[in-house]
Amino acid sequence: MTTHAPPLFIALEGGDGSGKSTQARLLREWLEARGRAVVLTREPGGTDLGRTLRREVLHGEDLDPRTEALLYAADRAHHVHTLVRPALARGAVVVTDRYIDSSVAYQGAGRRLGREEIRGLSMWATGGLLPDLTVVLDLDAATAAARRSGEPDRLEREPSAFHEEVRAGFLDLAAAEPGRYAVVDASLPPQDVHRAVVARLSPLLGADR
Ligand code: TYD
Repeated sequence: MTTHAPPLFIALEGGDGSGKSTQARLLREWLEARGRAVVLTREPGGTDLGRTLRREVLHGEDLDPRTEALLYAADRAHHVHTLVRPALARGAVVVTDRYIDSSVAYQGAGRRLGREEIRGLSMWATGGLLPDLTVVLDLDAATAAARRSGEPDRLEREPSAFHEEVRAGFLDLAAAEPGRYAVVDASLPPQDVHRAVVARLSPLLGADR
């Protein structure tokens, strides 16, 4: 049974290899078991246009950092307009695998384009839509790299120092606004990470908790 409950927007963030997709799946199951309609989505690539942009930004050649930042922002603008806002308007819980903070951490911190500028770009792109809760799955760069498999994409090919900058970028965002963030140790077993996430999420769930 789906009950009347306030819409909720949750972002999962973290480095490559931090286990976001596993946590997104566990979170969806947990929310659905509590009667919530869940839309699980991701950036880049949550829409048809986004899948085209994703291919270019992850596997295209010769992309300078500013073009890269604009492609992520374009994906986000379209994603929010066509998928995220309509789902929230229906009262769903939207769980997105990556959102604005990925741009701030990867393009702002990692690519050194400036965190404030990159945040401003995404705020413009989304009309200022921020998550109710952002979960940062925190993992050191070496452990995260060891967990990754398959052919690395453009970002995954960056050296460990880049990924440490990205990690620090996420942690700084969380430290600045602790009320809107949950930082979870992603080196723990997936079920323990999940338990920490839902402990933080439960109070936000409202009527059908
Ligand atoms: P992701 O889908 O998490 O990768 P995978 O499916 O391989 O686990 O993210 C793709 C990559 O895009 C990842 O390296 C992070 C990067 N990224 C940015 O650099 N900026 C952004 O704004 C977003 C959303 C992702």
